[in-house]
Amino acid sequence: MSPDLDCPSSCPFAVARDEALSFPVGQVHRVASDEGEEVDETKRNMLKLLAVAGIVGVGIGGGVAGALQYAQPPTIGISSYPRVQLIDVSGKPMTLDLAMKEYSSDSLQCYTFAYPLLNEPNFFLNLHPAVDYPLNGIGPAGGPQSIVAFSAICQHLGCPAPAIAYYPAGTCPETPGGKSLYIHCTCHGSTYDPANGAANLTGPAVLPLPQVILEADANGNIFAVGMTPSSPPVNGHINTLQGDYAVGPTSQLGVQPPIILCNIP
Ligand code: FES
Repeated sequence: MSPDLDCPSSCPFAVARDEALSFPVGQVHRVASDEGEEVDETKRNMLKLLAVAGIVGVGIGGGVAGALQYAQPPTIGISSYPRVQLIDVSGKPMTLDLAMKEYSSDSLQCYTFAYPLLNEPNFFLNLHPAVDYPLNGIGPAGGPQSIVAFSAICQHLGCPAPAIAYYPAGTCPETPGGKSLYIHCTCHGSTYDPANGAANLTGPAVLPLPQVILEADANGNIFAVGMTPSSPPVNGHINTLQGDYAVGPTSQLGVQPPIILCNIP
């Protein structure tokens, strides 16, 4: 039954209507609780809604956090560069003299060692006699400083040795920049200059290969002790120290026969 809008002020409908008009539109208001106090139902309902939403939110948030915890692989790696002694292919300590006598990179033979992590292979190159003073090279006192080491993982899409390999002069045509010896990736043709910190010579790669810092002790034993400050991270790694287990105190050279495919862009 609809209220009589014309009834006098004593009419109960008129009292209720006048009171209702004194509150903003959309606000539910009830008078006369048991204690005689006014109760704001809108506020109460909103608080209930927020409480339920909070409980549901905490539940969902906890579930997502738990799922992410199991979705992320654990970080494997080390916190700083280790000092790792290099061992030659026959098991002897690699020395400056041995490198000069038996590891001339004037041939297609290519040697790699892991550093600082097990899944990070690096070229071990003695560029003598082609280049006696490459950037950051080491060697015997008074002799060529031609021993260098670079990551053997291409900086383009990460092809590892032997797909990327060192090529002595005359193996492949000169690069567009006129270099006759270089490190060459057969996957898409990138080339790098081992005489100049493995700077990128031709693309599609644009970054240099990370260079290993080599040192020799008083007996000529060769150690890998870090990467040059200008080196980018080894391809496929957030940084060169993370992504696998450390190599340990020594790292032995292995032979990597190159894939000869001169596809320089
Ligand atoms: S992965 Fe080496 S050039 Fe593409």
